[in-house]
Parts: sequence; structure tokens; C-alpha cells
Amino acid sequence: MFIAVDGIDGAGKTTLVKQLAHHLAHLNPLTTKEPTSTTSWGQRLRQSAFEGRLSREKEIEFFHLDRLHHLENKIKPALVSCRVVICDRYVDSTLAFQTGTPAQADQLFAYFAKDILVPDVTFILKCHVSVGMERIIRERGKLSKFEDLPTLEKARSIYESRSGDNYEYVDASGSVEDTLQQTLDALIRRFPYLENGLIRSGGDVKFSDCGDDSNLKIAAGG
Ligand code: TMP
Repeated sequence: MFIAVDGIDGAGKTTLVKQLAHHLAHLNPLTTKEPTSTTSWGQRLRQSAFEGRLSREKEIEFFHLDRLHHLENKIKPALVSCRVVICDRYVDSTLAFQTGTPAQADQLFAYFAKDILVPDVTFILKCHVSVGMERIIRERGKLSKFEDLPTLEKARSIYESRSGDNYEYVDASGSVEDTLQQTLDALIRRFPYLENGLIRSGGDVKFSDCGDDSNLKIAAGG
């Protein structure tokens, strides 16, 4: 199963990813994040967050190339081993930050969709930009070049315009516990077998592909 967690900076994605992994420990989760720090594209993008942003075209290209490498080298191998993958930021970050309108976001998604694996579920954490910015300043002390008010407002409106069966919206303006509870409720509503530790399809990975070396505890039923 492939889970993405996305939303504006300061929404609480990283905390939620860690907590989800803890709650799904029986499914041997892999937690990961984008941009990665392992490719030259990811490293350049991380550097740009504090030294100065690249052009929109270069950002689209670099985030996409970093994502394809991440998919082939980390995400797909974990899914093939029947692990749950929980990814902190994924394609919706590119739509939110590298496009200007919901229509452009749809168009860019259609362009990417042929190359990427679409998550089984993407949690979009919703919170006011002012709340997100306050949290960043409290935790990190300074804002990055992606974190000015107009950029985050535009990103927030694009995140909230995404629609489709694989999206779940979570109100992340309250406590950490509240965000986690909403997320777990939605996850179990969608995938009731998760409660028992039974995992099914993640992209093209099927339950029956899980080998003897899988760490999964497979419960009956579901
Ligand atoms: P981080 O704060 O989660 O490490 O991400 C760094 C910044 O990268 C964040 O402010 C949002 C931005 N970003 C994009 O603009 N497009 C993308 O596709 C991704 C993955 C991140």
C-alpha cells in the first residue's frame, strides 16, 4: 500500500508520517520524503529552499526527476516486498507549488500520471497558512524561500482543489492527536483489513505476491 501525506508547510505532515508508521508498525512501513536528499536534483532543490529558488521549469523538471528516481529505487522495491510506504510529500506538492491555478494543476497531473505510481490514498492536511507559518517559525526559527504568504496561499488553494477517489482531506488546524485520529479513522474506513494487519494491493503489488520473507502478519478474512 502506498500512502502519501501532503499539504502546506507547517501543516504537520512529518509528525503525522511518523505517527502513522508507529500505528502501522505491524505492516513493516517504510517512511520516506520528497524532495529526497539522495539525488543531485533533490539536493539542488533543498539548497534552493534557502539560497534562492530555481525557475518554475527547472523546479518542475528537478522535482519530477527526483520523484522518478525515488519511485524506482525506494518506493517500488518496498511495495514489491509488501511493505506499506508512507511518503511525506509527493506529486501534489509539485502541483501546489509549481502551478498557478487548479486547471494548470490538473493539466500537469495528466502529464505526470503516465510516468508515476498514483498513491492508494493521499492525505491532504488542511490548515490556515498563518497557522502553518507560526508552527514553522516556532520549530525552525526561519522561513524558507518557498514559505512566503502568497506562495503558501496559492499552494493551499490548489491542494484544496484536488479531487478524486484517492484523496482524503484532514483538518490539521487542531492538535496532533486530533489530526492523527482523523487520519486513522479515514484509513480504516477505506481499508478495514488494516486494523487486523492485512495488506492488499499497492499499485501493481498484490497480496499473493508477498513472499515468505515478508514481515507482514497476515490475518484471516478481509
Ligand atoms: P520540505 O520542507 O517538506 O522539506 O520541502 C521543501 C520545500 O519543497 C517545500 O517548501 C515545498 C517544496 N516542494 C515543491 O515546491 N514541490 C515539490 O514537488 C516538493 C516535493 C516540494
